[in-house]
Amino acid sequence: MVTGAAGFIGSTFVRRRLAATDDHITVVDKLTYAGNPANLRGLDEDPATRDRYRFVQADIADEPLMRELAAESDAIVNFAAESHVDRSILEPAAFLHTGVMGVYSLLEAARAEHERRGGGSSRESGGSSTPGRPAAPVSSASSGFRFVQVSTDEVYGPVPVGLSRESDAMRPTSPYSAAKAAGEHLVSAYHETHGLDTVITRGANTYGPRQYPEKLIPLFVTNALDDEPLPMYGDGMQRRDWLFVSDHADGIGVALDHGESGGAYNIPGDGVERPNRAVTEAILEALGKPWSLVRRVPDRPGHDRRYALDGTRLRALGWQPQVAFEEGIATTVAWYAQNRDWWEPIKRGDWADFYRAQYAWRLEQSVEA
Ligand code: NAD
Ligand code: TYD
Repeated sequence: MVTGAAGFIGSTFVRRRLAATDDHITVVDKLTYAGNPANLRGLDEDPATRDRYRFVQADIADEPLMRELAAESDAIVNFAAESHVDRSILEPAAFLHTGVMGVYSLLEAARAEHERRGGGSSRESGGSSTPGRPAAPVSSASSGFRFVQVSTDEVYGPVPVGLSRESDAMRPTSPYSAAKAAGEHLVSAYHETHGLDTVITRGANTYGPRQYPEKLIPLFVTNALDDEPLPMYGDGMQRRDWLFVSDHADGIGVALDHGESGGAYNIPGDGVERPNRAVTEAILEALGKPWSLVRRVPDRPGHDRRYALDGTRLRALGWQPQVAFEEGIATTVAWYAQNRDWWEPIKRGDWADFYRAQYAWRLEQSVEA
């Protein structure tokens, strides 16, 4: 059961998983503004996948339905979330609904299955494999039902120097990352209290085809294609380690298949940190567009200056990123250039309200970048 898989990363995960394994997958997605059935198009018709794939439109906070669906599954991989920091600043309620009550509902569904299948209902003291605590054998019986929570590097908050490790404290700074951290705490609590077999992944900033055009890379690519301004927050020297979407999806697959119960796994990018200015330059160069499109606009409040992940734990399970930034950005820019029919309807829909609230006043105050 894969939730939130009509979105960007989840749809990539489902496509790759169906292609590489014999898994049967039920996608559960509410189809919010970010959920797009086009991302999963063809899976219900392709002879190679149609008997192993079904789509259920639902809110993960619908606990009775999640219990029914979990009863037909062996694992839940939870991608569902409100995922954009700027929207969490404008309207945080949906972030808490999905990130807290939604995660809780999925955990209850998973717990019911865990117990029905003979899993231990509690763990004896000392049985923790939670990062940062001493490892010890799991005392409760496993039911074979696994819960994977797809989380984010943003739970660590900004890291001025060095790399975040899984045992580091969570210091979220935005309503988005606070909701994601809350979800993680619930997952860890169900592992500790109920013996649920859980794994958490914390992926870096992800980019690639089919990303909703509110995020930095698809926003700047699609704006540049239309010769619209690129609104760069502040000095543009905020740094991220960018992760190509197929590498992120495969990292989650490795954690699902081989991750230690109760563990958390960072999924870093290609290891080269880039300031937003450099990302913007790469996009403009790929499109042959001028720097004069870039406008320096008032910054995002609470803007995290830098994220950087230590990927040692996941690499030890055999994962490593396959796509360097130069290749990934070329693929991504080409995809948006060739798939206007995917993103133009989005930018004609209720997008205008968000764009006005987020950018109209910023662009009025903008200066040369
Ligand atoms: P996205 O916004 O593209 O997709 C989110 C999906 O979740 C959408 O299909 C939406 O309809 C669905 N959804 C939202 N609320 C729901 C609910 N209550 N019930 C059922 N479905 C619901 O997001 P994405 O970029 O693909 O991110 C997927 C996951 O990965 C998120 O949990 C996010 O926090 C995490 N993540 C994203 C990034 C990134 O850079 N995009 C990086 C690290 C982690
Ligand atoms: P984003 O894609 O929103 O991801 P996150 O906030 O989760 O890292 O933003 C990536 C970086 O780009 C971040 O430093 C904020 C910056 N940014 C801009 O400068 N302008 C924009 O319009 C957007 C959406 C982001």
